[in-house]
Amino acid sequence: MRIKTEVVMNGLKISPKGRVAFVSGANNEIGRALVIALLEEGASKVYAGVQDVKALKELKLEYRNRLFPLLLDMKNDRSIVKVSHMLKDIEILINNAEVCESGGLFSDNSLDSLTINFNLNVRSLLKITTSLLGYLKNKDCAAIVNIVSILGLASMPVAGTYSASKAAAHSITLGIRGELLNTNVLVMGVYPALVHINLAKKLNLNKALPQNIARNIILGLKNGNEYVFPDIMSKQIAELYLTEPVTVEKQFAHFVSEKEVV
Ligand SMILES: NC(=O)c1ccc[n+]([C@@H]2O[C@H](COP(=O)([O-])OP(=O)(O)OC[C@H]3O[C@@H](n4cnc5c(N)ncnc54)[C@H](OP(=O)(O)O)[C@@H]3O)[C@@H](O)[C@H]2O)c1
Repeated sequence: MRIKTEVVMNGLKISPKGRVAFVSGANNEIGRALVIALLEEGASKVYAGVQDVKALKELKLEYRNRLFPLLLDMKNDRSIVKVSHMLKDIEILINNAEVCESGGLFSDNSLDSLTINFNLNVRSLLKITTSLLGYLKNKDCAAIVNIVSILGLASMPVAGTYSASKAAAHSITLGIRGELLNTNVLVMGVYPALVHINLAKKLNLNKALPQNIARNIILGLKNGNEYVFPDIMSKQIAELYLTEPVTVEKQFAHFVSEKEVV
């Protein structure tokens, strides 16, 4: 096989205005901010996947018949399929739900934490995406947005199993994009920086505002970006990663040592 040096982007841009979107994990900070940002950008309908629909009571009162909270347990394939059947009009899929089981690769619970992180962050992400793909491909223009993490590009000692799951989510994002080349579907990977609240305090980092992360994802959709680094720290890491991936690897490895962590 000859590798071509010329890169052709698919050039798809999709503004949320008048579109139908779905966000998983819609009750947490980033998920909620995404729901609000999509509605404020004029999305005609936003389906919000949550484990407890009461969590969106106030937003439902505000956005009424443009917001549809849906009960979704991503650990359960039947729940994913049931919800997928309600999303025939979907145009923008945002895979935001996650679990974040801590655990270094040599910690006592590493295999359990690996399984939990992979089941939700990788398997369920792929399950819901494949369940919705037919509907997305049916539209004039559509998008799949996977909220990955900068830890999908380099691993952190305290979160080795989580990082591995996010690296797999990154790889799946690339794979989906490859398989959907020359289709109507924009495939975007989003790579926020690690902003764990305790680590942020310990390392004196500023926590990125979820509203800013959501705004940059919307901007990415409008610009047709396949990669979005949505906060200052992730942009800095991305810049370094593109030229010096090994430097990023070493910096992450030194960030925190196992015994410093809770
Ligand atoms: N926050 C950050 O600094 C940061 C940094 C890098 C990447 N990210 C990525 O950004 C996304 C959002 O992060 P976050 O920190 O805001 O998330 P989070 O606070 O950990 O919330 C996770 C979300 O996923 C939902 N969820 C978990 N298990 C589920 C299940 N079985 N079925 C359905 N939903 C389930 C949770 O619902 P419940 O509340 O009901 O459990 C919650 O809404 C994630 O993909 C994460 O990897 C975040």
